[in-house]
Amino acid sequence: MILKQGNYFHLTNGQISYIIEVIDEHYLVHRYFGKGIRRWNDSGKVAYYKRSYNTEHGMGNISFDDFPFEFPYQGHGDYRIEAISIEQSDGISMLDLSYVNYKIYKGKDNLNGLPSLRAEKEHAETLEIICEDQVAGVRVTLYYTIYHDQNVILRHQKLENIGTDYFYINNIQSMSLELPSMNWDCISFYGAHAAEANLSRFPLHHGIQRIESRRGSSSPNYHPFFSIVSPDTNVSQGEIYAMHLVYSGNFLAQAEMDQFGCVRMQIGIHPDEFIWKLDPKAVFESPEAVLVYTDQGLNGMSHIFHRLYREHLIPKQFVNQNRPVLLNSWEAMYCDVTMDKLERQMKLAAKAGIELFVLDDGWFREGNTTDTSMGDWECNYEKLPGGIRQVAQKAHDMGMQFGLWFEPEAVGKRSKLYEKHPDWILHVSGYEPTEGRHEYLLDLSRQEIQDYLVDIICSYLKDGDIQYIKWDMNRPLTDVCSERLNGRQKGETAHRYVLGLYKILSRITSEYPEVLIEGCSSGGARFDPGMLYYVAQNWTSDNTDVLDRTCIQSGFSYLYPPILMGAHVSASPNHQTGRESSLSVRYQVARQFNLGYELNLECVDKNEVEEIRNQIEAYKVDRNWMKEGQFYHHDTNQNYVMWSTVSKNQEKCMAMVFRKRHDFFSSHEIFHFLGLNPHWDYYLEQDGKIYGGDELMRIGLSIPLEKRDQDATVWTLQKVGL
Ligand code: DGJ
Repeated sequence: MILKQGNYFHLTNGQISYIIEVIDEHYLVHRYFGKGIRRWNDSGKVAYYKRSYNTEHGMGNISFDDFPFEFPYQGHGDYRIEAISIEQSDGISMLDLSYVNYKIYKGKDNLNGLPSLRAEKEHAETLEIICEDQVAGVRVTLYYTIYHDQNVILRHQKLENIGTDYFYINNIQSMSLELPSMNWDCISFYGAHAAEANLSRFPLHHGIQRIESRRGSSSPNYHPFFSIVSPDTNVSQGEIYAMHLVYSGNFLAQAEMDQFGCVRMQIGIHPDEFIWKLDPKAVFESPEAVLVYTDQGLNGMSHIFHRLYREHLIPKQFVNQNRPVLLNSWEAMYCDVTMDKLERQMKLAAKAGIELFVLDDGWFREGNTTDTSMGDWECNYEKLPGGIRQVAQKAHDMGMQFGLWFEPEAVGKRSKLYEKHPDWILHVSGYEPTEGRHEYLLDLSRQEIQDYLVDIICSYLKDGDIQYIKWDMNRPLTDVCSERLNGRQKGETAHRYVLGLYKILSRITSEYPEVLIEGCSSGGARFDPGMLYYVAQNWTSDNTDVLDRTCIQSGFSYLYPPILMGAHVSASPNHQTGRESSLSVRYQVARQFNLGYELNLECVDKNEVEEIRNQIEAYKVDRNWMKEGQFYHHDTNQNYVMWSTVSKNQEKCMAMVFRKRHDFFSSHEIFHFLGLNPHWDYYLEQDGKIYGGDELMRIGLSIPLEKRDQDATVWTLQKVGL
């Protein structure tokens, strides 16, 4: 419900409230965001101090030093981080946005050319607030969408040139939020290739704390997410204000605590790598930001994100669909692909119950390394004499679907495409372009390049042989300059690249909506809500080592439901770390996620093939309830990783406790279940006993201490009487 009462807007759904005030018919002021309140009677008034060594504004002589602007800009005495800045053609940067009007309506419109959350009329309401600066010729529309039954507010802005001359947008953040002066902690995620999504927590202090990506993609280094949390926050309690950007390019997420302890947090496109020329009448839209509030700790937050992304972000047709169990050829044969080898893997895969056979990199390469033919997308007929069609047909004949790997954005020096169109890559004239993994990146901002990629990928999809695509991208952007843009507009390249990528994905997915795309970028380097609008699952990491995977999957699953995350059982010793682990543990760590296999089945002994068959059989039963189950993280000491999934109706539960190393301090560890019904009794499959839900949650089960490192204990519960 969105109420307009006098000078206030109150967005509320009972669970959360968001309140904005218009002061002096001019300034937009943030009054409140947090737990829902029944009605608003102007409590907690902003203290309008008249401060020395500052400025005075409006009827109340307000000082802007600590003024809680809803959408702040500089130039008048607010010296904190700004949400918008423009530069006129004569170099002047000045803005004074004044409230003009508002609009409230059911549902929400899609953003133009950008991914965004779906919110149908029956699910949400939207408020538009229009502000203008007539002198600068700028109109800004602020968008707020509130869902009826979720603790989520979606925000973005539209900027319009209502003047007669062009101006440049130097910065436009997707949201800005003011929080009261309190002790806060920050939580964000950092990582690297093969070590993605590590949770980092630190106290918020005076000054600016920021994370960012300037790599052209959201990157493995920092995730486009930032949260401010109360210091008592753990998995099941604590207040969290979280923001997440629906965008796959450069981003900046930051929080500033000012001299008085007041806090401002923002997320949006990174202004350092961005400029946008806006001609008269032209419009620019910022990406969408997701703002979440909970007082239920990290599990509370992740449950909100999980439901939101599962129901309102990923392509609609996959919302309720089980994902196929796949076998991926990469770690089995890397680029050394032959029809013979593939056929032998397929036979074993089909026997084991694999549903989708994925041919990864190598099928088009001249040799067996990653430095040839990238960008041509012509099958190497010496390796695969019957072409992709024949490989697909073989998989189909054995009762499996077929999937194919592409890295559409890249082009290699040793390719026909580069020979023909050396100017198609991102490059700065006069400089040798920078290679990454022997590749350059195509300038996706250009229409003819978008057309080339759409045509070539669709040429593979048109016969209906391919049910899945792995969309890879293996290097960060460099030489970020499009030949087609002039002067300062060259600074638009990074954002135009992302828009081009979205256009390509949108064209392919609207033509072939039934094809499942798995996003990938050297693992999880571009795992973000922007990509998930087009792809229904994402490869989580190139690191398939079971110990590292517990950490990486834990990290990403704070934000994404497990059904969106690819988790593969690979070989032991692991190819990335050399560590050994049992097949059973590798499966237990993968099975609450989107299960796949990525190992040479010919090197697996007979018993293990049988074990894999049993694993897949069990997974196929559980995935039906797990895909929409509630995933929980459990508080634990550093030596453990603990997860559980509880079915939507609370009748089933699967818990996994992973111990990194055997140690004698662990002899008294207890696992407390979460999310069960305390009034029901549950049958524990592993000991055949019946326990009350209250007992399992309050007292819990003792974790057995086996004499092993990397040990996994799994418990499965079922409501008695089912
Ligand atoms: C990086 C991916 O993350 C891997 O899974 C694999 O597809 C390789 N690229 C292939 O080059």
